[in-house]
Amino acid sequence: MSRVVVTGRVPEIAIEKLRAEHEVDAWDGPESISRAELLRRVAGADAVVSLLTERIDAELLEAAGPQLKVVANVAVGYDNIDVPACTERGIVAANTPGVLTDATADIALSLILMATRRLGEGERLIRSGQAWKWGMFFLLGSSLQGKTLGVVGMGGIGQATARRAKAFGMEIVYQSRSEIDPGIAAELGARRADLDELLAVSDVVSLHCPYGPATHHLIGAEQLAAMKSSAYLVNTARGPIVDEAALASALREGRIAGAGLDVYEHEPRVHPELLELENVTLVPHLGSATVETRTAMAMLAADNALAVLSGEQPPAPIN
Ligand code: GLV
Repeated sequence: MSRVVVTGRVPEIAIEKLRAEHEVDAWDGPESISRAELLRRVAGADAVVSLLTERIDAELLEAAGPQLKVVANVAVGYDNIDVPACTERGIVAANTPGVLTDATADIALSLILMATRRLGEGERLIRSGQAWKWGMFFLLGSSLQGKTLGVVGMGGIGQATARRAKAFGMEIVYQSRSEIDPGIAAELGARRADLDELLAVSDVVSLHCPYGPATHHLIGAEQLAAMKSSAYLVNTARGPIVDEAALASALREGRIAGAGLDVYEHEPRVHPELLELENVTLVPHLGSATVETRTAMAMLAADNALAVLSGEQPPAPIN
């Protein structure tokens, strides 16, 4: 029997699955676990099932000890994990790709619709109690049909977002490290472009790339300036891919039409200027937040941990 530390609350069914084979120490406090408590609890762990809110770095791996075999993140993004530090110590790192693709693409499409149709503005107006009535020019937004979606990062979530956007009548261009399956590109009518071209031709730019040193502030003042003044930016990937201060200026000065954000540069803090602007839709990192998706993510993370603990290859290794 091994010792598994779960760093935050996850669906009980995943805890039961782990508990059927191992001793499980799962943090279930109402707040995120403190760093000090986390470092104390991981001591002697054979597996750590981590949430994206916890930083899994060399300090934590040292605190866990040399018996630690696997870090299983309950997320597809793993910028909270120092993967080279895991690899150096022979620790398997794993994530949860696939199971949250549709849920996240649904939120991307929701943000595209909310931003282009000004739904947040409309909702705030009604809730404020202000008088309103139907008007020919009242809260006019922008149609999607015939417009171009630029997908930055054409992995599973980017493709799923493109598929939805195509159903809304959009043309797809994408920027990606590698060419995608030609069958999928043909099905989506998607054309590959470099970032400069994508920014120049897109009516909506949706970010779906992983976050790391190569994508830090990938969208900054210069890239925002390269977008059409009628275009929208949507981010469901990771906050620091966008320079939030530059985005706030571009939105305030009308240099782009609007934005929809699910993730933030200094999460959970939101840049104070964004809070003042009407032309940005702000939702609190809900990309994978459905009961079904979170359950599937927790079960996949449990399967990753269980596989490594029994000496097998995990279903979704990172390193
Ligand atoms: C959520 O943000 C994830 O990476 O799974």
